[in-house]
Amino acid sequence: MAVQRIDKLLASTGLCSRKEAAACARKGAIAVDGTLCRDVSKKIDPESCCLTFYGKPVCYQEHIYLMMHKPLGVLSATEDRDQKTVLDLLPKQYRSRGVFPVGRLDKDTSGLLLLTDDGALGHVLTSPKHQVSKVYHAVADGELKQEDVDAFAAGIELRDGTKCRPAKLEIRAVQDGKSDVLVTVTEGKYHQVRRMLASRGAPVLTLERLSEGPVVMDAALKPGEWRALKRQELEALQSETESGNR
Ligand code: URA
Repeated sequence: MAVQRIDKLLASTGLCSRKEAAACARKGAIAVDGTLCRDVSKKIDPESCCLTFYGKPVCYQEHIYLMMHKPLGVLSATEDRDQKTVLDLLPKQYRSRGVFPVGRLDKDTSGLLLLTDDGALGHVLTSPKHQVSKVYHAVADGELKQEDVDAFAAGIELRDGTKCRPAKLEIRAVQDGKSDVLVTVTEGKYHQVRRMLASRGAPVLTLERLSEGPVVMDAALKPGEWRALKRQELEALQSETESGNR
């Protein structure tokens, strides 16, 4: 890994901004290999030096990989003039680092949203060519049946004539005219799950994403909360996308 300025390294981890790094260094909060460092413009190799911030080793990663429990009512975009976006739920350092949501969830969809500053991985995860599967939990207004499961498996044709890839519809419960289902798709057409279910006469009432490839929503995250991907989650994601010739 290339040598980098200490303030830039610290800002890239989200621990502080570059400006704050200088103030922290003046307070004696930053050390390199056990020696206090007051000059944050100094360049170090993060792989061969031990950088500490308030006594704790800094876990530096070249890229940021996060999972968020996207809440309802928030846009999965980096910015918007009028409405709140998922980037507004993260520390501001992530915005300057170039973190973006991987693909989109509708404003009215909640659940798993991956965010990264790794453009290559983001591209692979959203490219239809790589067919990364996404699982959604939906409650639909209508009683879905085996014939709907078969239609999903055959590939739904949307009302505008768009053809979808074969998908999985799992009916968990049907009660009071409503269906509780899981839908697995390997592409990300505009409003796809809503349109697929609507085409079967069962418009979506609620929709949440449970997983993307091997990464499953952390049940401990409440709407609006986020955390870094764990090493195993990231490796599983990378190996899935590598097998699709990234
Ligand atoms: N399909 C939809 O219809 N909406 C989403 O947000 C995701 C998938």
